[in-house]
Amino acid sequence: MKIAIDGTAASGKGTLSENLSKELKLPRLDTGLLYRKLAFMYIKSLKLIPSQNTIDNSILKNILNDFDLNDLELEPYKQDLYGNFASRIGKLDFVRIKLKIIQIEFVENMIKKKGGCILDGRDIGTEILPNADFKFYIDAPIETRAKRRYKQLYSTNKSIEFKNILLDLEKRDNSDKSRKNSPLILSEDSILIDTEFLNPHQVLKKALYYIKKNK
Ligand code: C5P
Repeated sequence: MKIAIDGTAASGKGTLSENLSKELKLPRLDTGLLYRKLAFMYIKSLKLIPSQNTIDNSILKNILNDFDLNDLELEPYKQDLYGNFASRIGKLDFVRIKLKIIQIEFVENMIKKKGGCILDGRDIGTEILPNADFKFYIDAPIETRAKRRYKQLYSTNKSIEFKNILLDLEKRDNSDKSRKNSPLILSEDSILIDTEFLNPHQVLKKALYYIKKNK
C-alpha cells in the first residue's frame, strides 16, 4: 500500500504520517527533510548569510552528486532557517529531479521489503506517487498553524515572535503553492482533512476510517 500525504507548513501532515506509519506498520519518509538536509549542507558549505539572494547552482549540484537518505533526523534541520531555504532551493528543476530519483528508489525498496510506504511532503500525490492507493491533503487556517509552531518553538526559544512565525509560514506557503515545478495543490483525488479543531488522534482516526472504508 502506498500513501501520499501533502499539505501546508505546520498543518499536522508529519504527525499524521508518523501515526499512520505506526498504526499500519509501514515505513515513512518525511520528504521535507531531504530538502532541509540539502539546504543545511549548502549553507554550511558556503558559510552563506541566508538572506543572500543568489544560489550557486554548481555547489548545489556537487552536493547532490553524493546526496542520500542517511542522517535525515538531525535536530538542526528543524530550524525555520532551513525550512525557508529548502523552499527556495525546491524551486530548482535539477534539485527536484535528483530528489525525485531518491524518493522513488526508497518507494521501490520499501514496496519490496515491507509491502508499501507512506511519504509526506508537498508534491507526493501529484509527482512522486501519482498512483498512490490513498492521498491526503492536510491543512488548517494559517493562524492556527502559526500558533502551533509558536508553541513548539517557544519552549526552546523565548525570544521568538508570533508575527514573524506567521509571516514566515505565509511566505513559505505562497512560495510552495506558486512555484512552476510541482507546486503544492489540492488535487481532485485527495482527501482534504482540516486539522483546525482536531487533535492528532482525531486526525489519525479520520484517515484510518477512510482507508478502511476504501481498502
Ligand atoms: O515539510 P517541510 O516544512 O519540512 O518542508 C520544507 C520545504 O521543503 C517546504 O516548504 C517545501 O518548499 C520543500 N518541499 C518540497 N517538496 C516536498 C517536501 C518539501 O518542495 N515533497
